[in-house]
Amino acid sequence: MAEKAKIAVYISGTGTNLAALIYASRLADCPYEIVLVASNVEGAGGLALAELEGIATFTHSHKGVSREQQDAAMEAAVLEARADYIVLAGYMRILSEAFVARWEGRMLNIHPSLLPKYKGLDTFARAIEAGDSHAGSSVHIVTPELDAGEVLAQVKVAIAPADTAETLAARVKPAEHQLYPRAVADYVSRGNDPDFLYAKVRELALALPETHERESHGSPGFRVGTEKTGKFFAHFANQHHGEEHIAVLVKTGSMDELLNLVESQPELYFKPAYYGASGWIGLILNRRGVDWDHVGEWLQRSWRATAPAKLTKLLDAADQF
Ligand code: GRF
Repeated sequence: MAEKAKIAVYISGTGTNLAALIYASRLADCPYEIVLVASNVEGAGGLALAELEGIATFTHSHKGVSREQQDAAMEAAVLEARADYIVLAGYMRILSEAFVARWEGRMLNIHPSLLPKYKGLDTFARAIEAGDSHAGSSVHIVTPELDAGEVLAQVKVAIAPADTAETLAARVKPAEHQLYPRAVADYVSRGNDPDFLYAKVRELALALPETHERESHGSPGFRVGTEKTGKFFAHFANQHHGEEHIAVLVKTGSMDELLNLVESQPELYFKPAYYGASGWIGLILNRRGVDWDHVGEWLQRSWRATAPAKLTKLLDAADQF
């Protein structure tokens, strides 16, 4: 199994979701481990549990400090613990924008409503008040706008006629405890998930002008030009020909360039079977920290090298501005 992803969990309260995350992480094959539990509240319940379970803890009270200072102090502990992800589990502070931007795509939150409904506070009272049949909880990516990032997973919990916010909250908690560890595990594993990687490549490739998708030798490929006369500028390769990599193949300028890249950055590039001989290089996608902007740049370059002049001219003209 691949190395486990390291996560830091932020809490302010009892930490029952933290407990669920901890014990899930102790089961066989869990793809993450918790390397730090950090809190803005001294004596928060979850801290004692973390200590008891031998997990490093860090506390920095938010009292009398600015948001930025608070975030910086917590972040320093996260970096020292070498965490790859931050998982918010009842962390009751709003985060500063710069901090969120730095961790975007690497920070998750659990929010006790079926987002996009009921962002913010008092979610259960609001669901009952609205006469909803179900409440629930959502795991989402943290973005600068509160509770507004991409929803990764949800669990629904039926509302009983006699429910109060308290009784409903008490039933949503155990549902959250099922949801959060699973959603975190799926999220940290998705860099090895061919469906996820293919969807990312597809989105970038089809965002380029006049492109379409076509299968080639049983794998998805991306072409520029018309359906009739178009040419392939990228291929998606899921462990093709016994290769260990999930990759996108793009055109290099020359065999020299290809061989140089493969030799100098073997963690990023490889020479694929068959295609390599005609100048296609493989960008390895099933690895830590893929830079999707870099993948996008390669796709664009390969597109440019393949597209008919009338299309590249348009793009060249746009580049002048
Ligand atoms: C959870 O209900 C979660 O949805 C919200 O904060 C609560 C944390 O509870 N963001 P606990 O401390 O994990 O018990």
